[in-house]
Amino acid sequence: MAVPNKLPKDFIWGFATAAFQIEGSTNADGRGPSIWDEFSRTPGKTLDGKSGDYATESYKLWKEDIALLAAYGVRSYRFSLSWSRIIPLGGRNDPVNLKGIEFYSKFIDELLAHGITPFVTLYHWDLPQGLQDRYNGWLGKDEIVKDYANYAKVCFEAFGDRVKHWLTINEPWCCAILGHGRGVFAPGRSSDRNRSAEGDSSTEPWLVGHHIILAHAHAVKVYREEFKPTQKGQIGITLNGDWALPYDNTPENIDAAQHALDFAIGDYPFKLFDPVYLGFYPPYMREVLGNRMPDFTEDEWRVVKGSSDFYGMNTYTTNLCRAGGDDEFQGNVEYTFTRPDGSQLGTQAHCAWLQDYPDGFRQLLNYIWKRYKLPIYVTENGFAVKGETDIPIEEAVKDFDRIHYFQGTTKALLDAINHDGVDIRSYFPWSLLDNFEWADGYTTRFGVTYVDYETQTRYPKDSARFLVKWFNEHEHPE
Ligand code: NOJ
Repeated sequence: MAVPNKLPKDFIWGFATAAFQIEGSTNADGRGPSIWDEFSRTPGKTLDGKSGDYATESYKLWKEDIALLAAYGVRSYRFSLSWSRIIPLGGRNDPVNLKGIEFYSKFIDELLAHGITPFVTLYHWDLPQGLQDRYNGWLGKDEIVKDYANYAKVCFEAFGDRVKHWLTINEPWCCAILGHGRGVFAPGRSSDRNRSAEGDSSTEPWLVGHHIILAHAHAVKVYREEFKPTQKGQIGITLNGDWALPYDNTPENIDAAQHALDFAIGDYPFKLFDPVYLGFYPPYMREVLGNRMPDFTEDEWRVVKGSSDFYGMNTYTTNLCRAGGDDEFQGNVEYTFTRPDGSQLGTQAHCAWLQDYPDGFRQLLNYIWKRYKLPIYVTENGFAVKGETDIPIEEAVKDFDRIHYFQGTTKALLDAINHDGVDIRSYFPWSLLDNFEWADGYTTRFGVTYVDYETQTRYPKDSARFLVKWFNEHEHPE
């Protein structure tokens, strides 16, 4: 029964991380190389020139991390499995690494021993390098779909007796656009190289998105047919999407905000994945991409449509949208945080793409709920405080801007549930720890726990205390 001002019964909350961002130990116990190993070691690819080889050393310090989670009193922990620890070369005919299985198996047991529910992402961007070398990874349609489904099956077999919450793929938009369009994420392919005479960007990002949807859908099919009947878990994909507001009230900018929702924020192969949920491509997408947009066969559509048990949501910010610009990766819409009167939408984060605007979170939750009518699992949400890397630890742990952000988002979450009737099942602030923030290296810190990378000591920030207290006060009384 709903209780005013409380979260629903069995609401899942905890913190989130991803394997490559925290584990380090990239050569340990038979792990194979991943595309992020190579990419992050290449000079010029990360802001501070640092790789993921050490990160927060969580492969070694995993018991300490779980003890920290237990001290925070979380209900759940969202983490990802490293494909190349489990199948070092990645492919369906390549050997499985028992040491990798053993590591995650012990990890899951330890979580459960502390009463913490594992919430597992199968793929958070660290593709085995072997598959990149063999057939260009996500570009190799038939191969990658089969290899990914096989990897997923190995994981369901090994861990599905204890894992009841699966996320297939994290933020496909980043793999497609940042990895194969802008070239700023691994594998660092830039479609600029392949522009046609007409100036179109290549088809690569769109193909990658397309293949990711197929791979996701086939893994879900395997789960539903072979495992779900006995293991009885939930499985779905998790997408990044931010709310869009018109820059002003002119008709073209009102349209621009809608286009942002329909394209850069919404839809295939972007953030909302209409094919997965609704079974069709949005018309605006076709309008922009024309014949460069791939399509599914009828058989493929049957596997793709309805292939997520829920909507997995990663969201961080809101953009003001202005018509114009020729950046087709965001649907030819320009983004800004500066209003026409010069004021800012919210507090600026360390990274340029993020400001604090909690009402956008509430609006997005409502929009998704109305559009897809599926339960929403918020799998990421967080804030990187400006300059946190350049100040002493004693100051960094007093992370007022992050607390302010979470004050807003937790209120928005509760209002969306209790006032607006949105069915939300989880909330995972990103991140448990400061960690390897991809192309930003270690310069951007998203953790609710400060990590001193010299000593690998963890220091809870005030935001961790705020969130723990907030959840204790708002959990359902039963
Ligand atoms: C989304 C990604 O899933 C995660 O890996 C990243 O660190 C955060 N956003 C912050 O950028």
